[in-house]
Amino acid sequence: MTFDVTDDAAMHAFIDIEVPPPARVGDAASDIDTPSLVLDLDVFDANLARMQAWATKHGVGLRAHAKAHKCPEVALRQIALGAVGICCQKVTEAVPFVQAGVEDILISNQVVGAPKLALLARLASQARMAVCVDDAGNLADIAAAMQHAGTTIDILVEIDVGQGRCGVPDAAGAWTLAQYAATTPGLRFRGLQAYHGSVQHVREPAARAAICREVAARIQAVVAHLNERGLACADISGAGTGSAQFDAGNGLYTELQAGSYAFMDVDYGSNAWDEVLAFDVSLTLLSTVMSVATPGRAVLDAGLKSMTIESGLPRVLGRAGLRVAQVNDEHAVVAVESGAAPALGDKLALVVPHVDPAFNLHDTVVAVRGGRVEGLWAIAARGLSR
Ligand SMILES: Cc1ncc(COP(=O)(O)O)c(C=O)c1O
Repeated sequence: MTFDVTDDAAMHAFIDIEVPPPARVGDAASDIDTPSLVLDLDVFDANLARMQAWATKHGVGLRAHAKAHKCPEVALRQIALGAVGICCQKVTEAVPFVQAGVEDILISNQVVGAPKLALLARLASQARMAVCVDDAGNLADIAAAMQHAGTTIDILVEIDVGQGRCGVPDAAGAWTLAQYAATTPGLRFRGLQAYHGSVQHVREPAARAAICREVAARIQAVVAHLNERGLACADISGAGTGSAQFDAGNGLYTELQAGSYAFMDVDYGSNAWDEVLAFDVSLTLLSTVMSVATPGRAVLDAGLKSMTIESGLPRVLGRAGLRVAQVNDEHAVVAVESGAAPALGDKLALVVPHVDPAFNLHDTVVAVRGGRVEGLWAIAARGLSR
């Protein structure tokens, strides 16, 4: 089909086509167009309440990690329930949250380079911001950026507690940075960032608990070193969904940074959980069976552009005899046991392998309660990874 570009009416008719939303408020959940991320609000609310109650019971703050969902509506609900604020992982990621009214954000990461520091300083003049550091030159650059903007930022010195990623390796290094932060205009020394990522996915609770005890010993050594030199840590921030059970009560952490607990995914579903703190799947990727041409196989309309598979393959929720065998760019191929065949057009809910990158691939999450669409929430920070 060709258009006469001088024919305004024809061109207008052409460009006037809008991509419809996947659903509208009040629609039946079964009518949501696919592939779409769907949030079961009853389960989601219960997950939020459980983690908040756990933090409150242990006298620590919940600083829920927003990199999991990138959705201001989620953060505002966590804060309404009692969260002290949020974490973001990147400085651009924080922007939509500040715009949505979140007033207390930790960038739980290093921020390096002039453009990022200028943005961080602008955010710090709008909200209570904190940032992690593990380098003296970077800390001096942060101070200069804050002084230039006439503002102040809180500093958490990141210590490597066994993750083998960012963070100073020893107490002496932490002291150098902490002292500078405590005495330099534009900076306020607040405490330590002590996050151990790989422990989150250690499958057995007893093994996770043992590693958490080693982490606590490393934190304790640094805290003692700073205390002996007259510096107190107001906050020690860290922990995730897998370690929150053990970190909350250890007398060191003042903040839990868990994020995935609100949603859960295949990777966290592979952990064993003590009943004392466990979470249910609230987030699924709704997909449609688009081909049943070959017996024993069903093809879904959701692929790598709707989820990632670095943490394994998605799981079909609530339908026996169906196993995702393969995921390609635009398709997932499901192996079908005899008698379990879905019909063309059936909708299947998939548990996503890994929550964080799944959210990052979608514009909205469809919030559902009692089989009806209650809201379409913008994933406003999707793609904001600078
Ligand atoms: C710095 C930091 N804090 C906390 C988390 C916790 O995340 P989750 O609870 O989703 O595992 C992460 C996850 O990667 C992280 O990088």
